[in-house]
Amino acid sequence: MATERTLILVKPDGVARGLVGEVISRIERKGFRLEALELRSLEREVAEQHYGEHTDKPFFADLVEFITSGPLVAMCVAGDDVIVGMRNLMGATNPVDAVPGSIRGDLATVIGENIVHGSDGLDSASRELELFFPGRF
Ligand code: RTP
Ligand code: MG
Repeated sequence: MATERTLILVKPDGVARGLVGEVISRIERKGFRLEALELRSLEREVAEQHYGEHTDKPFFADLVEFITSGPLVAMCVAGDDVIVGMRNLMGATNPVDAVPGSIRGDLATVIGENIVHGSDGLDSASRELELFFPGRF
């Protein structure tokens, strides 16, 4: 067990649908802690950096378009094994495969609008936290 930090986003679809409170509530009820929280829009350059690993994927342009389409909520979330813990709380990338009880399993239907982002490892967590909250973690 390790105490970790991760970057969580409530994506523009989640904000537009009024699900910010629902997502934060699930995070807090699980026992994870909020260490930073900001409602903001993403400039294209930040979005392209954030999803840099997907530059060559066919869905990259749509992904950047979507994540910059409206305000999102960025959070630093901390806790025991929070990186894997949040990935489990979020559910599978494609809501079709996400189990009921997970955020995507309960609240989303299509892969392009899957409500939340969570860092997928220690390296991406520190890279993404530096991108969204420079110098703070
Ligand atoms: P995220 O980075 O947003 O937390 O999602 P993830 O790790 O579960 O999935 P990832 O593979 O990193 O993909 C990033 C986002 O790109 C969209 N996507 N679309 N059309 C497609 O085949 C496809 N594959 C991925 C999803 O919105 C996914 O969250
Ligand atoms: Mg990812």
